[in-house]
Amino acid sequence: MPYAHITGWGCAAPEKILTNADLEQIVDTTNEWILERTGIHERRIAREDESTASLGLKAAWRALEMANIKPGEIDLIICATSTPEYIFPATACIIQDKLGASRAGAFDLSAACSGFIYGLNMGSQAIRSEALQTVLVIGAETLSRVTNWQDRNTCVLFGDGAGAFVLQASDQPGGVLSAVMRSDGSGAGLLSVPAGGSKHPATVETVKAGMHTIRMDGREVFRFATRVMAQATREVAEAAGLTIQDLQWIVPHQANFRIIDAAARGLKLPIERFIINLEKYGNTSTASIPLAVCEAAADGRIKVGDRIVLVGFGAGLTWGALAAEWTGPLPDGHQRIRPAISRFWARIRSFFQRFGRFIEGLIWGHKA
Ligand code: COA
Repeated sequence: MPYAHITGWGCAAPEKILTNADLEQIVDTTNEWILERTGIHERRIAREDESTASLGLKAAWRALEMANIKPGEIDLIICATSTPEYIFPATACIIQDKLGASRAGAFDLSAACSGFIYGLNMGSQAIRSEALQTVLVIGAETLSRVTNWQDRNTCVLFGDGAGAFVLQASDQPGGVLSAVMRSDGSGAGLLSVPAGGSKHPATVETVKAGMHTIRMDGREVFRFATRVMAQATREVAEAAGLTIQDLQWIVPHQANFRIIDAAARGLKLPIERFIINLEKYGNTSTASIPLAVCEAAADGRIKVGDRIVLVGFGAGLTWGALAAEWTGPLPDGHQRIRPAISRFWARIRSFFQRFGRFIEGLIWGHKA
């Protein structure tokens, strides 16, 4: 059974920065309140000409470059997002076209902030089952487009960004070790964008009522998040045959420092074992975990051989975790084993097809 390795990663964030001081000019808030309650200093906001697909595309190119593969080698593109370009077609298809990933299937995955973990799990399962060789998983968001900039309860929390991982089959042990995915739809009303779907299609009234922007019961979501983060981390580590102490890094969804701190206490781990960068980006939903991984891999905190857990929660309610052994780009021989077999069989098939056409030509040519 092949292993699913994370062989490339990339991220992208808009250049425009919105600081807490900027927000003080927009709503009745203060830098002190935001910092103390969330840990967020600033967030990135997409320019008008940027979108979920354009950010996702940038991150995807960087991940492909890191993995040293061409778009034509991708079998499947999964784009986890809560802010797709359209209801349909899928943002993943727009990215597929711009990449020129001519052989790839593409679809969007809607599991809110847990979406990147869900997508990675789906991609790695497809590789483990030998159905696919190479999967591109993207988490991309422009939450600023569904933020109510008059609502101080929510507008201080979110930001825009994207991240992408390349998953590849290899016969070398490692890569994704285990995953858990959970949901509780009874909490659907705690965090939502109520209109714009089929239940409340866009009307003048829904727009006037601000129903196309994020509604949230912050306290309840906070309670839920602190309950599930430690529990999902423990579960996924156990499924991978690891103890919490075996983990070098936990990469949590970057929603709120206090939620991460509660998870650290629940797991009896020092906060230093958690990769945190929410102070710079705020909550970027599906992009938050890959953005944090990218930074930690780039500055050398996450190293080859490290065992890491990615853990997140979000609207739905959904939550999940994924354990992986970090390998990085694979040496050529290992990552090409299965494609080489496929290429060999493709050549044999093509030879017999050409041979068949030659014989056919001979027979029909003879008869004519
Ligand atoms: N600036 C100043 N005051 C604010 C404020 C802001 N930006 N936002 C809310 N307040 C006020 C509230 O109105 C409330 O005032 P009141 O007591 O007079 O009613 C007070 O601050 C405390 O509100 P509360 O909701 O108790 O704050 P909190 O400590 O729970 O922090 C959140 C609020 C939103 C930061 C916190 O609940 C949270 O992070 N929840 C999880 C949200 C999340 O992660 N969502 C994404 C999931 S993927």
